[in-house]
Amino acid sequence: MTHSGFSSIRTVFQERFGGEPRLFQSPGRINVIGEHTDYNGGYVLPAGIDLCCRVRIAPTKEARSSLIAHDLGETFEFEATALPDACPPWAAYILGVIHSMAHRGKSVGNFNAVFTADIPIGAGLSSSAALESVFACAFNELFQFHFSNMELTRIAQQAENEYVGLQCGIMDMFASIHAKKDQALLLDCRSLDFHYVPLNMQQYVILLLDTGIKHELASSEYNVRRQECEAVVEHFNRLGHSLVSLRDLTLPLLKTQRPVLDPILFARARHVVGENQRVLDLKRLVRHADWKSAGQLMYASHQSLRNDYSVSCPELDVLVETVQPINGVMGARMMGGGFGGCTINIVEQSHVDHLLETVNTVYQSKYGILPKSYIAHTGDGACAI
Ligand code: GLA
Repeated sequence: MTHSGFSSIRTVFQERFGGEPRLFQSPGRINVIGEHTDYNGGYVLPAGIDLCCRVRIAPTKEARSSLIAHDLGETFEFEATALPDACPPWAAYILGVIHSMAHRGKSVGNFNAVFTADIPIGAGLSSSAALESVFACAFNELFQFHFSNMELTRIAQQAENEYVGLQCGIMDMFASIHAKKDQALLLDCRSLDFHYVPLNMQQYVILLLDTGIKHELASSEYNVRRQECEAVVEHFNRLGHSLVSLRDLTLPLLKTQRPVLDPILFARARHVVGENQRVLDLKRLVRHADWKSAGQLMYASHQSLRNDYSVSCPELDVLVETVQPINGVMGARMMGGGFGGCTINIVEQSHVDHLLETVNTVYQSKYGILPKSYIAHTGDGACAI
């Protein structure tokens, strides 16, 4: 079913501002594998989905810009060339993009915009990266800045890091901007070299199961994990190695320090080293549509995120453990930063209904709510429509 906001935003724009606005969209993302590797200079394998953020937008000669968050029914007015010190939380993503563009010498002029999204918020599908990406793409076109897609990705990340204040890696906005339908992206987060990996799903579907919760810990623990990873790099560099990030660490080298390294730091590093290898291995398997073996790597990823990286939570674990013995399930794992959000599951299409019945019963009896579920279809990256 098409999201009702998509048809409404044009009418809202015209009633409020008049004229014919342009339309841009940018997708949310899934991540097949490669969790907490992006800020360690490692590998990820995300894909864009067909849930997206859309904006109707046009430049204005007025002295102020008007932003309407259609889904929230809120409006925020400001001057694009003199950004205010305070704004509603949702507007920070957009002001952050303007700020990052100004940092690169490009001044966004005043504009009117109405945006909406059908990406569930807090489900780990990167609704915020989609919001940053769609405005980055729109400003680039409207004001003819000629930023490349790579620069737009950096601009969106800088908006999130410096303006919104979340120290996320580059995966989410990279996927939102570079996504292609039916493809995943194998991204090297250090060099930003990437290539598309066809997602040959055959009889399988990508099923997302949403815990419906987001634990408070999510952003504070995310920053703690980043610091723990940096501490391991420093440990090795004090010994005379020259690691730029955990990407440069190998398992044999890590093991030499097992007797002296804090066990928590050892476990964090073991996750990152193992996860990078799993991304490369899974990419090869996907090329041959070997979802059975790929699924085993997804389970291994979940175990590692739970036991070594400590970013899972009981709700995510229950979802993965419940589906694992079900016929037709190839693999499952928590997806994204952790502490809530979704699991990603590779399931034979004909077994989805049975799986949902089982999962709903188990989850409801434990947590009193039904997990939401979505079949994720891949989608294209940020573009004008
Ligand atoms: C969040 C961040 C990403 C990435 C994932 C974990 O989604 O925004 O940059 O670090 O967590 O893989």
